[in-house]
Amino acid sequence: MTEYVQIFDTTLRDGEQAPGFSMREEGKMMMAQALADLNVDIIEAGFPAASPGDFRAVERIAQEIHGPRICALARAIPGDIERAGAAIQSAPKRRLHVFLGTSPLHREAKLNMTPGEILARIRDMVGYAREFSDNVEFSAEDAFRTEPEFLVEALSTAAAAGAAVLNVPDTVGYATPDEVFARFSMLIAEVERAPEVIFSTHCHNDLGMAVANSLAAVRAGVRQIECTLTGIGERAGNCALEDVVMAMRTRKDIFNLQTGIEARHLIAASHTLAQVTSTPVPRNKSIVGANAFAHESGIHQHGVLKNRETYEIMRPEDVGVDKSAIILGKHSGKHALKAQAADLGWNLEGERLDEVFAAFKLMADEIGLIDQARLCALLSQMEKGESFEPQWTLGAMALNTSGEAGSQTLAHIEMIHKADGAVSGTARASGALDSILSAINIARGIEARVSAIDMHYIAMDPEPVASDPQRADVLVDIEIEAFGGLYQGRARARDIMPACVNAYLDALSNGEAVAARKTQTMTSAA
Ligand code: KIV
Ligand code: ZN
Repeated sequence: MTEYVQIFDTTLRDGEQAPGFSMREEGKMMMAQALADLNVDIIEAGFPAASPGDFRAVERIAQEIHGPRICALARAIPGDIERAGAAIQSAPKRRLHVFLGTSPLHREAKLNMTPGEILARIRDMVGYAREFSDNVEFSAEDAFRTEPEFLVEALSTAAAAGAAVLNVPDTVGYATPDEVFARFSMLIAEVERAPEVIFSTHCHNDLGMAVANSLAAVRAGVRQIECTLTGIGERAGNCALEDVVMAMRTRKDIFNLQTGIEARHLIAASHTLAQVTSTPVPRNKSIVGANAFAHESGIHQHGVLKNRETYEIMRPEDVGVDKSAIILGKHSGKHALKAQAADLGWNLEGERLDEVFAAFKLMADEIGLIDQARLCALLSQMEKGESFEPQWTLGAMALNTSGEAGSQTLAHIEMIHKADGAVSGTARASGALDSILSAINIARGIEARVSAIDMHYIAMDPEPVASDPQRADVLVDIEIEAFGGLYQGRARARDIMPACVNAYLDALSNGEAVAARKTQTMTSAA
């Protein structure tokens, strides 16, 4: 029989308490809704005693988010338990999560308590928490560095006091998978408890083993996994929800377990997290990173085009990705170029394919990734017999601002089109970049706006030169909304403003090429 493993998400508590991942109240609400869409079993919404803001966010999640059980964390002290109980009181399904350090280090260095005092505190505080919620979880903090016999006593005490879930955290990410399997096998056999009490795993990633350790725990009989989206959390983070869920699903032959997670919402949830924490998901992140279902190398592209399973173990649509992406770059081969050109309506064969392939490689060396719009621009220009140079170049640019608070900046720009000559525009806006981009729109007679900008400062010399101490270029990647779609542009320059302007012009050229191609296709079809 396939057993069920509960997913306890702690993105909003353990995840949010890590440096760089703090969230504002509205961000927490968005994240909680994304977790409800994923159908996690439990949302650990925060630590209400930590601050009034944390209390308020947990209270709102308990009131407004429907579906999952809403949990609040408390130290094993009455004040924390009262705050946590008050914050979750309006949730139809709630959990109060009480924790106390049990290892010798925590007992002696942090709590200054004897083992007997620890056991009494567990008994009293789990019992007290039951007055606020009939569903109480107890965590033995630093469990994996706790003497096994004492851990059995501590967990048996919590179960006797009414805890429904016994969590055994690897607080410092020190355990190994074999150890986790052995420890849980022992605990499940030895801890005295009612049959409905379940064990839970909570692994940190200090040695990069949080997912492997969580999987070892469920193999030993644990039926709740505590995890976070993309693995954010204290120090190196927690077990990543998407990894552990997809591992159990993809290797059902080994685990024979199921979760209630609606995996097709994983990408959307990871985007929400990136948005509310202002921290992008790393490209190479398993399951939800941009590269997880993308192929650039010629050998892999050839394989995937013939049969996706040659290089993919999961279906992209199962986690919310439309389809595997064939990314064109300098490692790509002719098969992929031909397939993507065909998607755009160009049938490339023989010598023509060789020519385009040579131009494409030069461009990929220069720019990196070649998306569909840029490929469209390249093919359109080659069709017209033009050399591939930027359509638009920056002529002159002037900015004028009084410097007074709230004053607007006046921008004037002149741009030169390769075939049609110069155009100019003037605009006023509240910032230098806004005004210059508005001036471009006016000069070009178009409506476009920036949806994302990524800027990197690239040092040209390791050693500073006295006359030019920075010696660095600015590399700008921009995404714009224009011509009814989203288009990317990239430029590198010595200064921020020309780099932004050229990246914007580059994105506009790519968008224009796609718009022109669409018109051409429609005209020839009519
Ligand atoms: O890592 C840990 O021990 C914790 C507990 C509060 C569960 O986060
Ligand atoms: Zn933790």
